[in-house]
Amino acid sequence: MELWGGRFRESTDQRLADFTRSIELDSTLADDDLVGSIAHVHGLALAGLLSAAEASAIVAGLEGLRTEVAAGTLAWDPALEDVHLNLEAALATRIGPLAAKLHTGRSRNDQVATDLRLWARRAVAELDGAILGMERALVGLAEREGDAILPGTTHIQPAQPILFGHHLLAYVEMLERDRGRLADARRRLNVSPLGSGALAGAGYPLDRAATATELGFDEPSANSLDAVSDRDFVVEILAAVALGMVHLSRLSEELTWWSNPRFGFVRLSDAFSTGSSMMPNKKNPDPAELIRGRAGRVIGALAGMLAVLKGLPLAYQRDLQEDKPPLFESVATYAAALGILAGLLESLAVDRARMRAAADEGFITATAVADELVRRGIPFRTAHHIVGRLVGAAEAAGIGLADLDDATLKGTLAGAGEPAAAVLAADPGTPGVLRAAAAVEAALASCDVIGGTAPARVAAAIAAARQRLGE
Ligand code: ARG
Repeated sequence: MELWGGRFRESTDQRLADFTRSIELDSTLADDDLVGSIAHVHGLALAGLLSAAEASAIVAGLEGLRTEVAAGTLAWDPALEDVHLNLEAALATRIGPLAAKLHTGRSRNDQVATDLRLWARRAVAELDGAILGMERALVGLAEREGDAILPGTTHIQPAQPILFGHHLLAYVEMLERDRGRLADARRRLNVSPLGSGALAGAGYPLDRAATATELGFDEPSANSLDAVSDRDFVVEILAAVALGMVHLSRLSEELTWWSNPRFGFVRLSDAFSTGSSMMPNKKNPDPAELIRGRAGRVIGALAGMLAVLKGLPLAYQRDLQEDKPPLFESVATYAAALGILAGLLESLAVDRARMRAAADEGFITATAVADELVRRGIPFRTAHHIVGRLVGAAEAAGIGLADLDDATLKGTLAGAGEPAAAVLAADPGTPGVLRAAAAVEAALASCDVIGGTAPARVAAAIAAARQRLGE
């Protein structure tokens, strides 16, 4: 008969037992459950519900179980439904009938809510470390290859030249915000449900502030109904993880393109790529593809969790048990993806010559040339039109903007109306100035604003990132 079976006259249908059981999943919470129980025992003793001798005997039993859990020697009994009932039974095996006093003033509802918050707090800390590890890999690659020049794109079309380091640091910014979102979630989740009972609050004068403090929570939850049924913190973590995975997926997508020989910008190490069972030539960026794919699953976990919650009346409903698979899987996926991408970046070979050669395509210094005309007194719209003409001429001639001859440059300016003609008249050296402005290095250097890709800005940003990462 089940622990809760007093009022039941029939035993549970095996199919139902299989359907409701959660031990395969929630055994992950075992140590958190035991830590929560130890705090609860201290609370019971403080409230005079356990003698000092009883409390220390129960705590000793629970500590013994922690050792077994850590060693992996505790056998889980599927007939005992979940981690809470398994551990209570294991305690009884260890210390005898005294174990029957442990669950005083407590329900599995406040128990599991406490366990999961303890687990989530630790998971967030681990993810934070993993994100930092990936940031270090990005900054390390930026230090190593950051001054390589590549064509920045919009609409996947060549747009303006950028430094590879600038591109990598864009991801550092995203990852920093991802850390911030997890830190926000951590701040709100760190309250103690313990003492909320099944839904109405424990029927004993438990000092909830004391148990909250013992468990490292900032305070006890303010409303027992909310405490046992709130899974906002699961959603917040899933949302932060989903967005974090989206960022990893975007970088993964870029890596798949960059490693295609048409680009040839990067080469994945053998350790971070895979082959084909049929095509001996293949070297595939599978880790990047799988991270991209798993981002989809994590997004699904977030949507699924919201769907589980949306129709739930107060307070605890068994539906809430469905919080664990999406949370556990998504956190594990994110942690693994961060580690994989960090390793991939650390071992990534960069072909600077291929990147630089690509920057010579697509007239990507056109904006810089227009900017130079503006500096000489031509309104931007006119300058845009003039350079558009120059791009057309260069494209027709099969050359770059920096290769245009004096005649073409002068003719285009002269034909563009008064201010342009005046600029040419004032400085006959204008064609040479425009050719210089059309150089990729000059275009890069001109983007010299906070957050811009000018080499000095990027070098300073890399140094600042390195300092923030503390090395
Ligand atoms: N396995 C349950 C969960 O994860 C534990 C709480 C069960 N409470 C209950 N009254 N059946 O939510």
